[in-house]
Amino acid sequence: MKAAVYKKYGPPEVLQVKDVQKPTPKDDEILVKIHAATVTAGDVRLRSSDFPPLFWLPARLIFGLFKPKKNILGHELAGVVEAIGKNVTAFNIGDAVFGTTTMLNTGSHAEYVCLPQKWKNGVVGLKPENLTFQEAAALPVGAMTALYLLKKANLKSGQSVLIYGASGSVGSFAVQIANQRGASVKGVCSTSNFEMVKSLGASSLLDYKKEDYSQGNEKFDIVFDAVGKTTKSKAKKVLKDAGCFVTIKMLTQEKDDHLELIKTMAEEGELKPFIDRSFKLDNIVKAHHYVDTGRKRGNVTIEI
Ligand SMILES: NC(=O)c1ccc[n+]([C@@H]2O[C@H](COP(=O)([O-])OP(=O)(O)OC[C@H]3O[C@@H](n4cnc5c(N)ncnc54)[C@H](OP(=O)(O)O)[C@@H]3O)[C@@H](O)[C@H]2O)c1
Repeated sequence: MKAAVYKKYGPPEVLQVKDVQKPTPKDDEILVKIHAATVTAGDVRLRSSDFPPLFWLPARLIFGLFKPKKNILGHELAGVVEAIGKNVTAFNIGDAVFGTTTMLNTGSHAEYVCLPQKWKNGVVGLKPENLTFQEAAALPVGAMTALYLLKKANLKSGQSVLIYGASGSVGSFAVQIANQRGASVKGVCSTSNFEMVKSLGASSLLDYKKEDYSQGNEKFDIVFDAVGKTTKSKAKKVLKDAGCFVTIKMLTQEKDDHLELIKTMAEEGELKPFIDRSFKLDNIVKAHHYVDTGRKRGNVTIEI
């Protein structure tokens, strides 16, 4: 099968599309023929090994000290079940599925991947029927992260939420979920992304390049840092007394019931992935260059 392989850390050019062995499912695994995947901020960080100083050594110990332990990136995917192991009961051959491989396993930048039918962390489920494979691949990580953190913040209808970095993948899903749950949303992003963030459900907007959100008079129930570029001490200045700060720097979990919930929300028209650009697998280097800019809007997908 074809896959984007990297054998050393570095710039996008370390990726090469090559023929590698097609995997065979174990007894409790499904073999998915991948139709679409994504290049996320997490993928480019793993490729370049660009971890914050405090996490650099632990990350290298986990992902490979001198070179990557796993040679295929990609943790979101959508595709069709082509084969199942003998103990698989949750899926049938021909099922259209979407989900994640988890950051630790990765491997969706390839024509096929094997996934356990049931995960402790990391999940796979039936694809939302109304979404294309590209859209379904762009849903799991960003939407589950946004959902997890909004639940952690105990989001309630009628609350006010400031989403810092509303134009990224996590941010664009957080805006939609908070809006659907009856909160009023202020999106912080560049002026060029105002229209996008408004269309996702933000009722007011602030350009982080022109104004410092923490100097405003408006108070919020929740400040959600969706790009990891603000701090709790700044957020506190605009939080109500019992307000809550959440950030993508917190540990999050991918859960079966959250995947099911985002599937339902997508099918009910409450959640739609924003796809910025799509690349063919053969152009994976270009996709990484684009995500490396840190300017992507929503999600970048890979056609496989
Ligand atoms: N904890 C988890 O489980 C988890 C899960 C998923 C992602 N993450 C992390 O979450 C972060 C965000 O990932 P993502 O894919 O959602 O987004 P992303 O692609 O990293 O974000 C790109 C967007 O962020 C905006 N942006 C950049 N700098 C900004 C700033 N200083 N203030 C406000 N907006 C800014 C950019 O808009 P402009 O061009 O307008 O600047 C662009 O639209 C990454 O670090 C990723 O690793 C964590």
